[in-house]
Amino acid sequence: MTARPGFWPFTADGIADPFEGYAAELAEHPARRLPDLGVAVVTGHRGVTTVLRDSHALVAAVPTAEQLGGGDRDAGAPLRDTLRRMLALSDGESRQRARRAMQRAFAVDVVGRHRSIARTLAEDLLVRCAPAHTGRPADLVEEYTAPIVATVLDDALALEPGQGDHIRALWKVASATVDAPQDGLSPDAPRQLAEIRETLLEAIDRCRPSPGPSATHAMLHGEGDRADGDELVANLIFVLTSGHRSLVQAMALAAHTLATQADVMRRLGDGCSLDTAIEELLRWDGPVHLVQRVPCEDIALDTCTLRAGEPVMLFLGAANRDPSCFAEPDVVDLGTGRRQHVAFGFGQHYCVGATLARIVLRESVAALAAGAPGLRLTREPEWTVPRRGLRHLWVTW
Ligand code: HEM
Repeated sequence: MTARPGFWPFTADGIADPFEGYAAELAEHPARRLPDLGVAVVTGHRGVTTVLRDSHALVAAVPTAEQLGGGDRDAGAPLRDTLRRMLALSDGESRQRARRAMQRAFAVDVVGRHRSIARTLAEDLLVRCAPAHTGRPADLVEEYTAPIVATVLDDALALEPGQGDHIRALWKVASATVDAPQDGLSPDAPRQLAEIRETLLEAIDRCRPSPGPSATHAMLHGEGDRADGDELVANLIFVLTSGHRSLVQAMALAAHTLATQADVMRRLGDGCSLDTAIEELLRWDGPVHLVQRVPCEDIALDTCTLRAGEPVMLFLGAANRDPSCFAEPDVVDLGTGRRQHVAFGFGQHYCVGATLARIVLRESVAALAAGAPGLRLTREPEWTVPRRGLRHLWVTW
């Protein structure tokens, strides 16, 4: 989807504060079609949840093998097969068995053990990167959020320490044509995809003989639906790349809020409910701003009817600031649980990793509130585009 509406926030300048543009769009057009661009744009909470709930709204089609291969169909076929097996990129009944297996594997009885792992890691890393100890500001992305998530996900998926980082580096090259087909496929890409597959199949084989504590074990053993083989490989790649990025950025954005709003940090220190605070931090500044769907039948919303075949941009970051759903949406209110936020999506593609993400986010915020109550920026953060996130978050305390 290349067409861009007028208020497009995903530019180097706009990404640091997309919310002003969202507010104007919400006030004027919580949902509208842009026939000249051939897309529709939905920012209102009601419209976003209506579309995400509707089984006629399909995830956008995976690019063809030829596109992914930079013109070479055979070279692009393995990447296309991998993408099509990912839950996030598939629709209909056939995905339900794998989704149930993933839901069971990332349920609290399996991933709950990561609470103490994340807490210990967060406390240790915070001490290690403390400016009082190193004599320089800390970069909370490089030195805190990214290593916590990498360690937790390696453990959750039964990988050797560091294997997730290696897979992410390989995937960056192997999947580059998803975002930039015009650049062509790197000659290394097919070999790198094959190496990822081999590494993950080895991890799966290690979990096969008997039940164990990891989510990968849970997908292979236990009651009910199971996932295995190339389908499991594809979804493990999704967890290690998209899940990793979302969680690293959710934690970094929460830390940014604490470093820039002293009263929010104070309330955390005063012992407000951490679970409520986490939901509000996710609502106020979550890492996933935009998801897309293509309706296969018309979908009627309050202010317009979305047309079959016309791609729809759903702005989750705007829906989370919709004043018709949240009173004073631009204020961080740690006192009330505003759980109707859509930071994890909604409906049939609702985030499978939400429980694990909440656990790790909670422990990272708790460690900051306890160990770095004076947290503040030392320079303006570096934002990433097109997905809003923080490349670096330089702080002291
Ligand atoms: C705070 C961190 C995270 C946020 C905000 C987040 C957000 C989201 C969102 C918005 C979706 C829905 C996308 C759509 O509707 O098109 C989604 C789907 C998904 N997420 Fe997350 N995510 C996070 C962390 C994770 C983690 C840690 C994992 C894995 C352990 C994960 C695994 C998944 C999977 C597998 C899906 C696809 C579900 C499906 O299509 O059925 N996410 N996530």
